[in-house]
Amino acid sequence: MATLRVKNLVKRFGDTVAVNNVSFKVDDGEFMVLLGPSGSGKTTILRCIAGLEIPDEGEIYLDDDLINYVPPKDRDIAMVFQSYALYPHMTVYDNIAFPLKLRKLPRAEIDSRVKEVAELLRISHLLNRKPHQLSGGEQQRVALARAIVRKPRIFLMDEPLSNLDAKLRVYMRAELKKLQKELGVTTIYVTHDQVEAMTMADKVLVLNKGVIQQLATPNELYNKPANLFVAGFIGSPPMNFFEGTLVEEEGKILFKSSEFAVELPYEAAKLALEKAAGSEIILGVRPEHLYIAETRTPRTIEASVYIVEPLGGETIIDFKIGDTIYKLKHKGEINLKPGDKINIAYDPNRIYIFDKKTGKSLLY
Ligand SMILES: Nc1ncnc2c1ncn2[C@@H]1O[C@H](COP(=O)(O)OP(=O)(O)O)[C@@H](O)[C@H]1O
Ligand SMILES: [Mg+2]
Repeated sequence: MATLRVKNLVKRFGDTVAVNNVSFKVDDGEFMVLLGPSGSGKTTILRCIAGLEIPDEGEIYLDDDLINYVPPKDRDIAMVFQSYALYPHMTVYDNIAFPLKLRKLPRAEIDSRVKEVAELLRISHLLNRKPHQLSGGEQQRVALARAIVRKPRIFLMDEPLSNLDAKLRVYMRAELKKLQKELGVTTIYVTHDQVEAMTMADKVLVLNKGVIQQLATPNELYNKPANLFVAGFIGSPPMNFFEGTLVEEEGKILFKSSEFAVELPYEAAKLALEKAAGSEIILGVRPEHLYIAETRTPRTIEASVYIVEPLGGETIIDFKIGDTIYKLKHKGEINLKPGDKINIAYDPNRIYIFDKKTGKSLLY
């Protein structure tokens, strides 16, 4: 049981600032996900916490103890990597028992702990096998068991599911989340997969180029993205972005791009208009918050169907305004073909407005 605090962490590799002044706190028992594209500094942060990298600046606290100078083996932190690195010549039992043998625990205690975690991870029937006799998912569970067995204060996991096939990955996500809640171990989990982050995390720390973009719950990230980066990174298909300006005309606020004009809901747009003060903005609307209107109104946009992608339960409609293609997610099936003229409407409670220059949200 532990809380972890990272304060103003900086890590450079030559000219690269891999981690740029990152601060965050993970509460006791919390599942924190570090999310960002490749190269955003996720692994480096984990390695600093584990003691495998020395920070250039900043402090790392486990509960109230500054651990910057504590050797990795004394940090009481377990790390699970993308490659499980099981010992191939050892049985599953011996793989799991290994960290306890290193600590010279009594044999009876080792035995009971190995059996306990094996039961928890539902691998009791595999204890006599060698790693090569296991499926990918089973190997992954053995690696987890080996990490759990020594009852660490914190779990660090670096893309632990990325070597599994898609179906198993989805299954293991849920399993891992359940296990983490059962054990109640404070966990930091790294992934570049936004769906994984959204489905597993209590809180998500979004990173880009070593800089924190937002720290929030999955729902907050989706509903109130702090900036363009987060807005574009969370959600699938990604949010549509329209470039233009806001203008007030006859008591109405319009969004004007080079290709179209559309009336926006007054209250939300007014605040953005005041903050933007005439500069270029980006209007953001998620594909699931756009729909096809029966008729043309000042709040719809004329478009033409580019391509229709049926997914069974829903249909993605790629549509064109001028030369740009956007996406709309329609519940169920729809009878449309390329070239059809449509009117696009938006959910007025679900629009986003960002400053084009800073990328920051102008709504809140
Ligand atoms: N040992 C290293 N030497 C030099 N550059 C490194 C090293 N480790 C990471 N980097 C660089 O630091 C940045 C962050 O890397 P990393 O933390 O691995 O990102 P992520 O895990 O988000 O993909 C990248 O630009 C990467 O090339
Ligand atoms: Mg990485």
